[in-house]
Amino acid sequence: MNSIFIMSDIQYRKNYCPPAFSVEKIDLLFDIREEKVVVTATSVIVPQTPNATCVLDGTAHVVGIALNGDLLTYDDFFIENNQLHIKNTPNQTFTLCIQTEVFPHKNKTLSGLYASGSGLFTQCEAEGFRNITYFFDRPDVLTRYFVRIEADQKTYPVLLSNGNLKDSGSLKDGRHFVEWEDPFAKPSYLFALVAGDLARSEDSFITMSGRKVAIHFYTNAEDQHKTAFAIESLKNAMRWDEERFGLEYDLDLYMVVAVSDFNMGAMENKGLNIFNTKYVLADEHSATDTDFENIENVIGHEYFHNYTGNRVTCRDWFQLSLKEGLTVFRDQEFSGDRASRAVRRIGQVKLLRSAQFAEDASPTAHPVRPDSYEEINNFYTVTVYDKGAEVVRLYQTMFGEAGFKAGLRLYLSRFDGQAATCDDFMNAMAEANHADLTQFSRWYSQAGTPVVNVSGSLNTLTNTYTLTIQQFVPETAAKTMRMPMLIPIKFRLLDHHGNSVPLRQDAKSDESVLETVLMLTKNEQHFVFYDIHTPVIPSLLRGFSAPVRLNFAYSDKELNIIMRHDDDAFTRWEAAQTLYRQAIVANLEALKAGSVLPNHAALLSNIRYILQNGTGDDALTALMLQVTEETALFNELAPIDPLLLFTARESLIDYIAQHCQRDFQAACEKLLADLPPQTQPYQPETAGLRALLNVYLSYLCQADDRAVEWIARHYKDWASDMTRELGMLRAINHSNNMLRLVLLNRFADCYANDALVLDKYFALLASSHAEGSLKTVQTALTHPAFSMENPNKVYSLIGAFTRNTPLFHASNGSGYHFVGDAIRKIDRYNPQLASRLTKSFSQLPLVDKNHQQLMRYELNLIAQNPHLSKDTKEIVHKILDIETA
Ligand code: BES
Ligand code: ZN
Repeated sequence: MNSIFIMSDIQYRKNYCPPAFSVEKIDLLFDIREEKVVVTATSVIVPQTPNATCVLDGTAHVVGIALNGDLLTYDDFFIENNQLHIKNTPNQTFTLCIQTEVFPHKNKTLSGLYASGSGLFTQCEAEGFRNITYFFDRPDVLTRYFVRIEADQKTYPVLLSNGNLKDSGSLKDGRHFVEWEDPFAKPSYLFALVAGDLARSEDSFITMSGRKVAIHFYTNAEDQHKTAFAIESLKNAMRWDEERFGLEYDLDLYMVVAVSDFNMGAMENKGLNIFNTKYVLADEHSATDTDFENIENVIGHEYFHNYTGNRVTCRDWFQLSLKEGLTVFRDQEFSGDRASRAVRRIGQVKLLRSAQFAEDASPTAHPVRPDSYEEINNFYTVTVYDKGAEVVRLYQTMFGEAGFKAGLRLYLSRFDGQAATCDDFMNAMAEANHADLTQFSRWYSQAGTPVVNVSGSLNTLTNTYTLTIQQFVPETAAKTMRMPMLIPIKFRLLDHHGNSVPLRQDAKSDESVLETVLMLTKNEQHFVFYDIHTPVIPSLLRGFSAPVRLNFAYSDKELNIIMRHDDDAFTRWEAAQTLYRQAIVANLEALKAGSVLPNHAALLSNIRYILQNGTGDDALTALMLQVTEETALFNELAPIDPLLLFTARESLIDYIAQHCQRDFQAACEKLLADLPPQTQPYQPETAGLRALLNVYLSYLCQADDRAVEWIARHYKDWASDMTRELGMLRAINHSNNMLRLVLLNRFADCYANDALVLDKYFALLASSHAEGSLKTVQTALTHPAFSMENPNKVYSLIGAFTRNTPLFHASNGSGYHFVGDAIRKIDRYNPQLASRLTKSFSQLPLVDKNHQQLMRYELNLIAQNPHLSKDTKEIVHKILDIETA
């Protein structure tokens, strides 16, 4: 282990102190000039503790400071470590006026105030407001915002900020002004400003109490025709929150602005959401079914933050999951109510397993509520978001929908207009449901994915079936406690036709149910069921009722029954995953031993069964036919040669493709004949059919290159919408056939003016297994549409590359080096983006020694930079296990 000690600035949750000052209101004047913006911030500050020093966060250049109207001199203040210390502030309310200058065109971090295209945009979460002015830039200081913006009328006809428009008018020299007022006190991270030449799409919504809310979506003029779906999604989200939780929107105006340079997906600024273009703009020619689903989801997510995040915000950033986990849960429920709940649930499980379980097993493991951080931007993670959402879901699993709603309503009414903690939320849930959640609270404090081992035995003398369940919390890099957790396991017993067997848990009562939730609380527990006369199969963790790793030694026959006949989509899909995993492991063993690959006849019969009978839901069928991704297998098989795992999985896909080729061909042709034409942009009813078709096409191309030619011949006919077009391109994307490049190039030419479709093109190049792909990706860096400064482009090309196993994990280290180079470049101007890319190296402990060495070499090259950002440094050091002190 390296034991270099490095000075660093770690924040600890246990050190929380309430703010020494509150702010009654802030007046902000933005004077937008050609190259700079002059910001005048006037705050009315109320001391909360006598004689406390007034310390404000900030990085901008200070022009001048006045206290109660008197200009301060250098004797009255100093700036140190990005903090402004004002000496001798009065113990009574005072007014502090600070003038700063910022240079948005030079700001490439995409945090604070920055330029994108010809417009200006802000991004303040988590700590971007301090790049604009000096302020108490922490979420527990809430204040009222009054904003005036002045700018050139021609360059910046649209001037926006939070809340309601109060005034606007002309000024001299072709300039104009607007004034905005937000009636709700908010923390600085929710502040937003936009200035630019943007087109406005309008709509409105009547709330449940009959108020009319104006809806304004702002985009570039050429994108205006692509806003309809997002606007419809917003109205659906507004209606849903009223119906499900009785929550009504609280301003008269809801604005959404689309920007193409954005580090994240979207941001919930009060009354003025700012969105990455890819989560707003869509029509059937440019967006896939998945894109439409994502847009609906993200629009919902940011809207739902208006209550869970904005009206009740976080006390400090350790509580991030309070708003993010809860709001992800809410957007998941919204999406589930919109379409295909069961399939959405499987999508959530896939993400959790391949990304969150992996994070738990990695050097960056942390609990849902972290105990410390260096750079908060590194903690917008799948653990905080998606495990956080699972923890929120657990309340609903335990208390039911009504109990959950009661808890949420209590929480929102008790903390409205305040900053709260995860404990506050948990206590409201406990109180509303008269529950003791002491043990449950470990879900917030303990890192690691609990492992649950289950076995069952039938006693034919007593006719009882006993389940023995053990749980343990594995050790992680976070080194948190590992006490037994409260784990609800949704459960049924099935007979050999897949029918549910009545469950009787009380020997003295005849009462029975078909489904129950087993509550694990201890390291080991037994559950007894009476009146069981014939062999039964446990259907465990139905609906994925808890974010755990569950093991049960099913026989192949039992897996077949669950997969074909269980009525829970998750357990059916899970049975298929188990079969795939076992087949991949068998291949791996053979590859290691240098023996011939085994046959997988049982698996084939299941695939044929599904091909012939379907599952009742085409989208589910499509999911069941897809072999488990490597990322979901990595940590179970660690340490492993990723290339060997890739080969083992690829061989299985080949095997299935070869053996079922005729079945796929027949199913595919039938589907092509039956598929109704796409009449609307996005139809959830037929999305499953398109998903299925695309799976067939992939297997067919894997089996035989003639399928590539077949697709090429019909390409124009079949490319009726982007889902189908991209499905074809993905199917042919690993082929070495010349036709692949012909089609890809034509695709890029055809959409040369559509940035979001070009992102798909770059992602295709970077996910290909075809020969020479590294070279192609390197060349793409010089493509005129590519830009290292645009996060969407970087994620499409370099992000997709890090998930392309044979390329990223190439045995000569070329893949790691390619990504390392990009990280080193990007870190100079966009630390958040660089740091996110760096996380792809956190698989280090999961790969074999050779790959570890190659990764370490690359990480050391990154670490050597004396100017490395705090963001990237924190991640690199965690992976390299360098102690910080
Ligand atoms: N508040 C975040 C956006 C954010 C995160 C801004 C970190 C700045 C720093 C927003 O609500 C969010 O969570 N967006 C997600 C999408 C969502 C559907 C999970 C995102 O941007 O990825
Ligand atoms: Zn969010």
